[in-house]
Formats: sequence, C-alpha cells, structure tokens
Amino acid sequence: MKQKENLAKKRALITGVGGQDGSYLAEHLLENNYEVGGIIRRHSVAENQDSRIKNVSRKMSTFYGDVSDIPSLIRIFKEFNPDEIYNLAAMSHVRISYDVPAYTIQTNGMGVLNLLEVYRTMCPEAKFYQASSSEMFGNSVDEDGIQRLTTPMKPVSPYGCAKLLGFNLVRHYRHAYGLHACNGILFNHESPRRGTNFVTNKVVKGAVDIKKGSQENLVLGNLDSYRDWGHSKDYVKAINKIASHHIADDWIVATGETRSVRNLCEIVFEKLDMNYEDYVVQDPKFMRPEELKYLKGDSSKVREILKWKPDYTFGTMIDEMIDKWMNHSD
Ligand code: GDD
Repeated sequence: MKQKENLAKKRALITGVGGQDGSYLAEHLLENNYEVGGIIRRHSVAENQDSRIKNVSRKMSTFYGDVSDIPSLIRIFKEFNPDEIYNLAAMSHVRISYDVPAYTIQTNGMGVLNLLEVYRTMCPEAKFYQASSSEMFGNSVDEDGIQRLTTPMKPVSPYGCAKLLGFNLVRHYRHAYGLHACNGILFNHESPRRGTNFVTNKVVKGAVDIKKGSQENLVLGNLDSYRDWGHSKDYVKAINKIASHHIADDWIVATGETRSVRNLCEIVFEKLDMNYEDYVVQDPKFMRPEELKYLKGDSSKVREILKWKPDYTFGTMIDEMIDKWMNHSD
C-alpha cells in the first residue's frame, strides 16, 4: 500500500475511466494536481479499452477490474489506496437496458453496493462520488415542469431502477456509517466523445455523413421526448466539486434548458444548411417500451453553494461535435 503521508497529491480512483465522463474527469483531475487511477474493463478490441484516455494514460495508473468483481476491487483499493473514489462505471445506454435488464441491475445497482462495501471496509476516510442520473425521475416532474431534489423518483427503465438502487445505497451508507458518500444527479451531458448510439452524437454524425454524401438518411426513434443537454466537460468539473466539498450530500447538475429531439435535429441540420425533414425517418426499433418524456433540472444548489456554472452553451457544444465529424476520417 502506498504511504499517503509522503505524498502531497490527492489520489483519485475512477471506475469507468474509459467512458466519456471518465476520460474528461481524469484530464481535469490531472490538471488539478491529483494522482489518478482508473479502472478499465477488458475489451476484445484492445484499442477500444482506452481510446478516450490515450492522451493521458501515461500520466495515470490503470487497472483491469469491474464493479461486479469484488476481488478485483479489493486488489485495486489495496494497491492504489484512494482519497477520492468516483464511481462512473455503468451500463449507460437506457434503451439497451430493456434488452439486458439483469446485467444492468447487476452493474448499475449491485456494482454500487460492492464498491461501497469495499470502500467502507478498506478506506472509510475517503470521499465517494456516485454517478446518479436524471433517468431516476422517470416521468415525475413538478407542476412547473422542473425536476428538483424533492421531486419523487419513479423510474421507467431497468437503467433508471438500477441507478435509483445505487442512489439510495449511497444515501444509506452515508447515514448509517457516517461515510463521505455523495450523489451527483446529472442530467444528459454530451460531447464529441459521446458514443454514436446516443441521440446527440447519432444526429450530428448522421447529418455530417449526409452532408458529405456518405449516408442517405438518418433513422431515429421518438422525436418528441425532451432532454436537458449539457456538456460533459462542464459536468466533470461539477463532479469534482461535489466529491471534494466538505459536506457529503446529493446534488443536481443540469442546464435548466430543455429541448426536444426534433429541435435537436432542426438545429444540427440547419447548421449544415439542410432541412431535417428531408432526411430523418423513424423506426420503432429505436423506440423504448416506456419513454421518459421530459427532463429539465433545477441545479440552483450546485450553482449557489459550489459556484458551478457551465461554460458551454447548447450551440457551442453542437458546433464542437460537428467539427469533430467534419474533420473525421475512417
Ligand atoms: N439513443 C437514441 N437513439 N435515442 C433516441 C433515438 C435514437 O435513434 N431516437 C430518439 N431518441 C430519443 C430517446 O428515446 C430519448 O428520449 C432521447 O432521444 C435521448 O436518448 P439518449 O441519447 O439515448 O439518452 P437518454 O436520455 O436515454 O440517457 C442518457 O442520459 C441519462 C441522464 O438522463 C444516458 O447518458 C444515461 O446514461 C444518463 O443517465
């Protein structure tokens, strides 16, 4: 076990470091003088394991592990001895969670329990952050059309149910054992690093491919759901503020602006001088058995107490994503 007293740097362990948020968080923490450890899962295409962290992988430690594999967590905790633990590991695709519900509950729910137990028994002085999600609200919304920390949570997907289990476990471990365990309830957040099967990057990549002539149309599911979309790079700064704040608590991170998938298409195609109605078609295959219709979050607490605010607007985020695909070659 490394000797903390000899080290000035705080040691942050990130599960899910290979994902969109994990990679931006690793960069942010390295820039802020943290020593960073990241847990990655083995992938049969080795390049895919750490493609998002290739710029920083030499500056950090990486470990093979999985939140469903307790021995791997024990080994990693022993070796890395974290001061802060960021649990970003998850099966993150809501629609796919209906296809693999048990796996989703195992990873996104039981995985949190595994991690909390290892944390409680091995390094209870550390601070713990759980990536909770606005998907936990389901179709529950206050009368003024906003979701708050007090809004009842009634998830409508295996993903949302599993995230709610994780959220409640974190609160329980905080209250029962006095641990510094926090939840960040993050509304949708996107970036050029977003997987192309999430709607923002699917629309941007699809529209750019149509513009370049390499694709004829764009096949989507429900165009009439609303999301509160921010930028992942802004949201990882909130994650770090939440985890390192002296009081462990629950927080909402959101822009407070909402727009429909249809409006997203309108904006992206318009930026490329096209009309989305000429290209977007719908296929039930991308619809969900039960849809979360509307999200708009109240993030006043994180803005007032932690002085967080986003730098990106929806427009600058979409421009950055368009640039990525415009300059991308296979
Ligand atoms: N993925 C996808 N693909 N979504 C589509 C499509 C499509 O072809 N067509 C329409 N949509 C709609 C979905 O039905 C949903 O209403 C909306 O676009 C957003 O879908 P996603 O981008 O897949 O995100 P999400 O809202 O389901 O989940 C994301 O946000 C959560 C926070 O609320 C994920 O990042 C979750 O991991 C995260 O917790």
